[in-house]
Amino acid sequence: MTNKYMIFIANWKMFGGLNSLNSINPVIKFLKIFKNKKSVKIIYCPPTTLIYPMYKRLKNTPLMVGGQNCHENHKSGAFTGSINTTMLKNVGASYVIIGHSENRRNGENNTLINQKIKSAINSGLNVIFCIGETLGERKKKLTKKILNRQITSGLKKIKNKKKILISYEPVWAIGTGLIPKINELYETISFIKNKFKDYKVLYGGSVNPKNIKDLKTIENLDGFLIGGASQNSKKFIDIIKKTYN
Ligand code: PGA
Repeated sequence: MTNKYMIFIANWKMFGGLNSLNSINPVIKFLKIFKNKKSVKIIYCPPTTLIYPMYKRLKNTPLMVGGQNCHENHKSGAFTGSINTTMLKNVGASYVIIGHSENRRNGENNTLINQKIKSAINSGLNVIFCIGETLGERKKKLTKKILNRQITSGLKKIKNKKKILISYEPVWAIGTGLIPKINELYETISFIKNKFKDYKVLYGGSVNPKNIKDLKTIENLDGFLIGGASQNSKKFIDIIKKTYN
């Protein structure tokens, strides 16, 4: 995997204030001297409150900024507490995470997710489109069926494949320290790639500096979405370094 172009997404979730911006400095420094820097893409998705300050900090670096969710309507409206894709773009975001299981759990269904993706594309954003099965679904051997449905509905009438990164995140692997068996993960990623051709596919769920040694052996992966470990610059850098070792 040494020379492969890989994408690393830092999903900070609902963590961090202005002070946390300092933790990106070591990552910027590291990237300047990293021998594989041309093959690395790093996208930070901080809480919405940090998008603009982070954008300013990253402006003259190759690192990019994204939001963690959006409203489905790209036009303004009376939706208290919501933020649309036009607004995200306006404060410097180039990406937005859509369909994360932490939001699906709060009632976001495939139809709404499809509307959000359309809205993001409309506003010129790239989409980090999260999919994944629950433990119950996995036990019932429904993984492929669920993923197929999530992708088919989520990407309905979406033509621009280059704007979408699919991130496979088994719900039971997020924040638990568990990851799928490597051969099973390989099979799932192959299933997605064969069925939905030309999309880049990432893996997310408990990626850390230890398990990256196994995860990086999955040749058809295009990168990783990293939650907990991405808030710690040392761990985040370690994951990137080890991916290319
Ligand atoms: P985690 O989160 O790395 O903390 O498991 C991943 C995610 O939610 O995308």
